Amino acid sequence: MSWIREGELNLIERLSANVLKAGPVPKHVAFIMDGNRRFARKKHVDRQEGHSQGFNKLAETLRWCLQLDIPEVTVYAFSIENFNRSREEVDGLMELAKLKFLRLLDEQEKLERHGVCIRVLGDLTLLPLDLQQLIAKAVVATREHKRCFLNVCFAYTSRHEMANAVREMAWGVEQGLIKASDVSEALLSECLYSSNSPNPDLLIRTSGEVRLSDFLLWQTSHSCLVFQSVLWPEYSFWNLCDAVIQYQCNHASITKARELHQDEQCQQQLEADHACVAELLHHHGNGKPADAPRKQEAVTEYGVRRAARVKDFLDALRSKRDTFLTELASQAT
Ligand code: FPP
Ligand code: MG
Repeated sequence: MSWIREGELNLIERLSANVLKAGPVPKHVAFIMDGNRRFARKKHVDRQEGHSQGFNKLAETLRWCLQLDIPEVTVYAFSIENFNRSREEVDGLMELAKLKFLRLLDEQEKLERHGVCIRVLGDLTLLPLDLQQLIAKAVVATREHKRCFLNVCFAYTSRHEMANAVREMAWGVEQGLIKASDVSEALLSECLYSSNSPNPDLLIRTSGEVRLSDFLLWQTSHSCLVFQSVLWPEYSFWNLCDAVIQYQCNHASITKARELHQDEQCQQQLEADHACVAELLHHHGNGKPADAPRKQEAVTEYGVRRAARVKDFLDALRSKRDTFLTELASQAT
């Protein structure tokens, strides 16, 4: 099964899609694709077949998202905790991933035609080396595509991602690229694996479980969360429409909460800059208080210098990550 499934909606689906598109449509939807093994048990097929049908459903769901004008999708394909499953199941999931990323490399022309950029979020070093190389090759091959985005979370948990972001900032301080006082919520967001994407508007979990299982904890604090009882391989176009309607019903309060948070972040940054400038003036002004215009000017200058420092650090981080991926990709056979 291909990553991009061709096919049209039928008349009633098309009409419904057009009605939905008259309202606010989420720009980014995240899925916890849960219930593959229960589906396999229900259908009396083996576990691996459940996961394989789970992948087929992912391809179908991506097509529906494009048809609903949803340009970005993030999926939880393999959590770091999934390494604790039986050896047989973990090996089966690694084999499935190898097969699908090889297939992706065969489909480059189609991905280019649709402008699909595939990113993989997670700690690749936890994976077998041949899979790491294959993933890197697939990511490098599609990284210039800009029309739609699929983020595959693989060897991922949110806490691991946040701890990694904190380590990246510590590296920046160690290298003298940023100051400890430049660390902020906004900077941490920029150091996450997901830094190239807006936060998801809508997060959907299937199979009736009502928890986040360490998925995008930082990114979904102002997202609409929808829990659906359907098992992932049985997910339908109508389930997706239902989730989008729930998003539309909550759109106004989500937008308001995001705006409030944005204002709070700006306020926090301003306060941090004021505190740094007060300290500098105290040291350089021999304890003499500076007048208000001088202080304001110093805060503005400090903000400009901080933004330049942060930009250079983020450029260095991006370049470090790009080099890692490009080198891995070049080792792929
Ligand atoms: C959760 O169902 C599903 C997974 C742990 C694997 C999801 C993987 C895919 C859908 C394939 C994606 C592959 C690529 C390469 C993108 P579960 O196993 O927890 O089932 P259960 O909840 O019924 O036990
Ligand atoms: Mg499960």
